[in-house]
Amino acid sequence: MCGIVGVLGNHEVAPILVEALKRLEYRGYDSAGIATVNNGTLDRRRAVGKLVNLSDLLVHEPLAGKSGIGHTRWATHGAPSVTNAHPHMAGPVAVVHNGIIENFRELRAELAEAGFQFVTETDTETVALLTQMYMNAGAGPVEAAYQTLDRLQGAFALAFLFQGENDLIVAARKGSPLAIGHGHGEMFVGSDAIALAPLTDRITYLEEGDRAVVTRNSLEIHDANGALANRAIKTIQIDAARVDKAGHKHFMAKEIAEQPTVIGNALANYLTADGHIALPDPGVDFTAIDRLTLVACGTAYYACLTAKYWFEQIARIPVEVDVASEFRYREPPIPDRTLALFVSQSGETADTLAALRYCEGKAARILSVVNVPESSIARESDLALPIHAGIEVGVASTKAFTCQLTVLLMLALKAASDRGTLSEEALADHVSALRSLPALMTTALEQNKAMQNTARRLSEARDVLFLGRGLMYPLALEGALKLKEISYIHAEAYASGELKHGPIALIDKHVPVVVMAPRDTLFDKTVSNMQEVMARKGKVVLISDAAGLEEANEGVWASICMPTVHNAVAPILYALPAQLLAYHTAVAKGTDVDQPRNLAKSVTVE
Ligand code: F6R
Repeated sequence: MCGIVGVLGNHEVAPILVEALKRLEYRGYDSAGIATVNNGTLDRRRAVGKLVNLSDLLVHEPLAGKSGIGHTRWATHGAPSVTNAHPHMAGPVAVVHNGIIENFRELRAELAEAGFQFVTETDTETVALLTQMYMNAGAGPVEAAYQTLDRLQGAFALAFLFQGENDLIVAARKGSPLAIGHGHGEMFVGSDAIALAPLTDRITYLEEGDRAVVTRNSLEIHDANGALANRAIKTIQIDAARVDKAGHKHFMAKEIAEQPTVIGNALANYLTADGHIALPDPGVDFTAIDRLTLVACGTAYYACLTAKYWFEQIARIPVEVDVASEFRYREPPIPDRTLALFVSQSGETADTLAALRYCEGKAARILSVVNVPESSIARESDLALPIHAGIEVGVASTKAFTCQLTVLLMLALKAASDRGTLSEEALADHVSALRSLPALMTTALEQNKAMQNTARRLSEARDVLFLGRGLMYPLALEGALKLKEISYIHAEAYASGELKHGPIALIDKHVPVVVMAPRDTLFDKTVSNMQEVMARKGKVVLISDAAGLEEANEGVWASICMPTVHNAVAPILYALPAQLLAYHTAVAKGTDVDQPRNLAKSVTVE
């Protein structure tokens, strides 16, 4: 993960670097640092923990200069510490890095042999030392950086800054994204265009294997074969304003509350006035498709699991769903007429991107469902479907999940319509259910207090189980993931019917069991499983609608009443109590809700 920036500016660069790093802090917050060149002198400042610690340090120990690089870290090699924090310096060079140098052990051995000393436990230090070694041998800065890049294996986005060079950054991309921003007599480098948004909207995206020599007035790019490359400058539209919490205590609370609005936006972008699904050009013809492969990670994977039920039940298309990290190395056969679909909020998840690349040239079409339209996954797909969730800052995904679900359901409806598996009447029924979602979500959010009260009790648990059947099963998985990632309470989810095949042994009077069960055709079956839990003194939290609660509320530990909803869209609505229970439990426990420990928003390492 990690976020990197570089600025060749006309003003003092330290505050600009810090501001850009703020916009990249979603990539990691184990440490942060900047380096500048001031009248030819290279120097740096680094601090452990969140960016605010670096800002504090810079108040006491300012760093002058109009050229600089910066880094926010998600630790891979070496614990979070000042020593391991980037930029890494060796003699005349400073380096910031996102990714993993896979052959760093061999390189370290070679450097040790040549008499170089290591002060950090990181893989990145080898990059700085190699560059120093080549410069010691007489190479100029660009040549030394390029020679170093030739030696590196793994995935990286790198920026190099040099002693004595007030107007030079060397940047390189292999496996991790990197954008170059064009200003007026200024140039910028960033892990993404969002970091650069307040500085410029004119962006050149480096492609795989690209290396760039950046000065204030020029950009020279070489491709993976060393040939000069002509990469386009795109004008991008990103809201440059700093996203704020709009009066909420946390970004996560704000993003949960935004869901009626963003779901409305997603619907408006795909539904025509006469209730049909319109995809961006060139669209998809589902009669030319025999099967679907859905691939993603984490929450986006659970969105795919939910979509499997929709595509199979509504459009009668066989669906395979995989976590990207397994898919990419399993080398699965991809039969002709397979549509491969990748779901990712960030559009930069390394495993999902690698899985997409595996499908290139094998699948009939490559589609993606993304929140960041300029992301690598979007750019490398035949067709990218944006989810219109807006920037998601909270590390735990909330509104992106429900927008992913909404777009996936619309896609399943489009497939059903193309393949004639749904009557016009049934299609209209589903579309009207989708259109009812923003209002139903607003009603569901009014249950906030009930969820807060239940969460207070949940916060005392050591383990929590989630149960669901059918479309509620992937949601149970998502509920468990949300709870564990932000409250650090151990949580597991099971398909209700699986409980008695082993996990029921976990149940005793200390274990809350959250049961997601709208009053649908599977309700009675889920309630039977719930009774089995209560018979063993498990504490049931029943999330259902008025009809469901009237039938099955007796003896439960707590209940939450959802509005009555069409079966097909229920997982989108029931995501709200799953998110709010996790949120309030984390608040009750006093954890860092928006930036939970050990996590990062964009997972650009495998
Ligand atoms: C959990 C969460 C993660 C992401 C996963 C994939 O709340 O946010 O599990 O869903 O890391 O990220 P994207 O969607 O950016 O590919």
